[in-house]
Amino acid sequence: MSFAELWRELEPLGRDPETAGYRRYSWTPADAECRTWFTRQAGRLGLTVEQDRNGNLWAWWGSRDAARQDAVVTGSHLDSVPDGGGYDGALGVASALAAVAELKAKNFNPERAVAIAVFTEEEGARFRVPCLGSRLMTGAIEPGAARGLSDDDGITLAAAMTAAGADPSLLGPDDDLLGRIGAFVELHVEQGRALAPMDAAIGVAEGIWPHGRWRFDFTGRADHAGTARLADRNDPMLPYASTVLAARRLAAEHGAVATFGKVIAKPGGANGVNSAVRAWLDARAPDDNVLQDTVATIRSAAEIPAKEHGVTLTVRQESYTPLVRFDEGLRDRVTGVLTAAGIAAPVLPTAAGHDAGFLAARIPTAMLFVRNPTGVSHSPAEHAGEADCEAGVHALALVLEDLAG
Ligand code: GLV
Ligand code: MN
Ligand code: MN
Repeated sequence: MSFAELWRELEPLGRDPETAGYRRYSWTPADAECRTWFTRQAGRLGLTVEQDRNGNLWAWWGSRDAARQDAVVTGSHLDSVPDGGGYDGALGVASALAAVAELKAKNFNPERAVAIAVFTEEEGARFRVPCLGSRLMTGAIEPGAARGLSDDDGITLAAAMTAAGADPSLLGPDDDLLGRIGAFVELHVEQGRALAPMDAAIGVAEGIWPHGRWRFDFTGRADHAGTARLADRNDPMLPYASTVLAARRLAAEHGAVATFGKVIAKPGGANGVNSAVRAWLDARAPDDNVLQDTVATIRSAAEIPAKEHGVTLTVRQESYTPLVRFDEGLRDRVTGVLTAAGIAAPVLPTAAGHDAGFLAARIPTAMLFVRNPTGVSHSPAEHAGEADCEAGVHALALVLEDLAG
């Protein structure tokens, strides 16, 4: 089973024909197609697939029951952001399957069980909390709170899971499964552009910047866009607009990044003043203090124009992921394996979130990055060359062989 063959089958699933972006939202028909694809490919490799209590898929090479505390796990996610790229998450899953195929083709017989995991709702694109599958598994979110999360149509996670044939009452920490794992290695397309200038196809992760999402609700009063005098308006769009600009300025001042990427204006008539603007701030920084400070100053900056325009503002943190430093011992082992094979793999920090960040709190975890020549991600322009993808598969196979051998 080659990477190219796997990729050809996965590529069309959940892709919008107009934008060429992916809309693989969790517990939707597109997600089900991706799950079916994964289950079929893992079956072709002779792996046993199961869905855990949190909706994550696991394909086992060797018995899950034989895995004591030392299974070697790889994998990533198959869900996407709105009109996302094809590589984010999917590359890690397809590469994991291809790496297992490579090891099987050379008759490698693992001493330790090997598994491929596919985590659910990594992007938080539908239920707004990223890495939901790994968060639940590691106990980083209350199962009751997760069940009650709702999408933009008001459908709760519990209802979406039930409609897709999964049982939301089972959601929660999975110490039994975690206890079987000795190491987790996630391969991911590079997000940002560090490897290309270094002429390296593969990188190794150092850690993940802390990041979070905050919901800003600006509430004003709906009115007529023609007849309401400017002085009489309570237009929530105005303080929102000021806040977008303030976030950019304050992030730059703090050495952080801050983005309003999603906004809903209600009622949203072209000839009306809105009654409410709801917008989500995504903010990330090199350390937790800088991040908290950045968000606090953005919030204070938002309060000034809100007051000026007679608009009320509430801010609610919807998710938070603290700084992650990956296990140094595992990282050195991974870079050692790659160096011995003549693969120079620079160590890089990243500001992108990953399920590996949640697993890192419980088990030794590492990440491999595959060069993205433009650095663009969360966009249909995201790309990795076929030769680099093949190099990623080979690098992952070498690491799995070393860890499970
Ligand atoms: C996931 O890709 C994130 O960093 O938001
Ligand atoms: Mn992503
Ligand atoms: Mn990802």
